[in-house]
Amino acid sequence: MIRLEKVSKRLGAALVLKAVDLHIEERETFVIVGSSGAGKSVTLKHMVGLLTPDSGRVLVGDRVISEASGRALEQLRGQFGVLFQSGALLEWLTVGENVALPLREKTKLPEDAITARVQEKLSMVGLEHDHHKMPSELSGGMRKRVGLARAIVTNPRIILYDEPTSGLDPVTSRLIDELINRLRRELEVTSVVVTHDLMSALSIGTRIAMLHQGRIVEIADPQAFVRSAEPEVQRFLEAQYITRRGSWERTEP
Ligand SMILES: Nc1ncnc2c1ncn2[C@@H]1O[C@H](COP(=O)(O)OP(=O)(O)O)[C@@H](O)[C@H]1O
Ligand SMILES: [Mg+2]
Repeated sequence: MIRLEKVSKRLGAALVLKAVDLHIEERETFVIVGSSGAGKSVTLKHMVGLLTPDSGRVLVGDRVISEASGRALEQLRGQFGVLFQSGALLEWLTVGENVALPLREKTKLPEDAITARVQEKLSMVGLEHDHHKMPSELSGGMRKRVGLARAIVTNPRIILYDEPTSGLDPVTSRLIDELINRLRRELEVTSVVVTHDLMSALSIGTRIAMLHQGRIVEIADPQAFVRSAEPEVQRFLEAQYITRRGSWERTEP
């Protein structure tokens, strides 16, 4: 479905991605973990054609998005819904208007169809009564859900999530995880989730890849991931109090 082949990318002075190889299957929820600055967001931007590699290539289906431009690129991008890290809501528009934006920009749907579609997607994220609210009236979790409704409003085949639970409390984070799982089941989409939330990765991922300093150091299903012998994976797990047996470990005070 999505394939990165030996993708390398320099940004400024830094070599941010170093020959990254990834193959994401249709209907997976593929999770990419790694610490801040590892190159996770840069990897996502390559998938949707917002960045192009210095070497290597990126395929969506059988099309090379990293070499596409103009109409072809627009058409490939149209298959994606993206939940950006910041949520990126326009503060001067209502919730409903924010969700409607991609439809207004990319389609010629009549106004009544737009209203119906916006309401359908707001219902999916549990915000059917909030379309008239302003972003400033929303909690962090609600903002993420509005961003999610906007990401799915064009019925994309692929959803990219950049840090969907960052800045949220644990209970709200698990609600977002459940929502991601539900969208996968109900919309049969392929998802790629970038996160440093290990609990989230383990509960939603079909496979988990770890990116460390621009290199993929592990790709495994959740059971195998927590047992990985890779030192960087172990460091990442230990930092979140998970032992190699997958159980919780308390540091002696
Ligand atoms: N447009 C850019 N110009 C220069 N450096 C960038 C740019 N975007 C990202 N970087 C650098 O690339 C590295 C990886 O960034 P990013 O993918 O955003 O990390 P993260 O894993 O936290 O999402 C960081 O060191 C960041 O500073
Ligand atoms: Mg990032």
